[in-house]
Amino acid sequence: MTKPYRVAVLVSGNGSNLQALIDSFAFDDSISIIGVISNNAAAYALTRAKNANIATAVFDKDSNGKLTRQAFETLALDTLGEWQVDLVVLAGFMKVLSKDFIHNLGTPIINLHPSLLPTYKGLDTHERVLKAGECYHGCSVHWVNEVLDGGQVITQAITTVHQDDTKEQLAKRVHALEHTLLPWTVSLLAKDMFDKTPLPLPWRLWL
Ligand code: GRF
Repeated sequence: MTKPYRVAVLVSGNGSNLQALIDSFAFDDSISIIGVISNNAAAYALTRAKNANIATAVFDKDSNGKLTRQAFETLALDTLGEWQVDLVVLAGFMKVLSKDFIHNLGTPIINLHPSLLPTYKGLDTHERVLKAGECYHGCSVHWVNEVLDGGQVITQAITTVHQDDTKEQLAKRVHALEHTLLPWTVSLLAKDMFDKTPLPLPWRLWL
């Protein structure tokens, strides 16, 4: 039997995308979610991980009630090193990682972002898409580099924006797309698809 592809997931909040990964790979011996790291002790994602018997590590606050980015990164690097992962997935992880962390980790990192990158980097994407009167919206998975939401896009899923969409309705539809896009992308990466295929354009799901 070949060794499973080892994945760690970094989270800060609800973790519905973590849940999508857990459910997708529950019966797949080729991909294993080794552990979940959170910078927020109250993240519901931690409960999801525990329910699935996945190791968790929480680096939230130190004795002064704070944790610098550097302190978080040192702890996360140690843990990810121990877990010996092949891929790190940022799924609703709200801290920006430093260039040193990305370099020192030496493991590929992907991030899930709720827009069709390279447009609408950053926060409040649904609101901005509606304000701009866009016809299309969606989500992207991209490689993480030192530029926020700026690494090469690997995959995208697209939806049309309806004329009467509210921010909430649009967010809900994009969230549902994410739950398909992220596991699909991880399974393609586990199969080494993108090492063999240079990416002139992202692979797109039209759901
Ligand atoms: C997702 O919309 C993702 O694109 C963004 O944060 C959200 C996380 O949602 N980066 P969840 O915690 O997985 O439910």
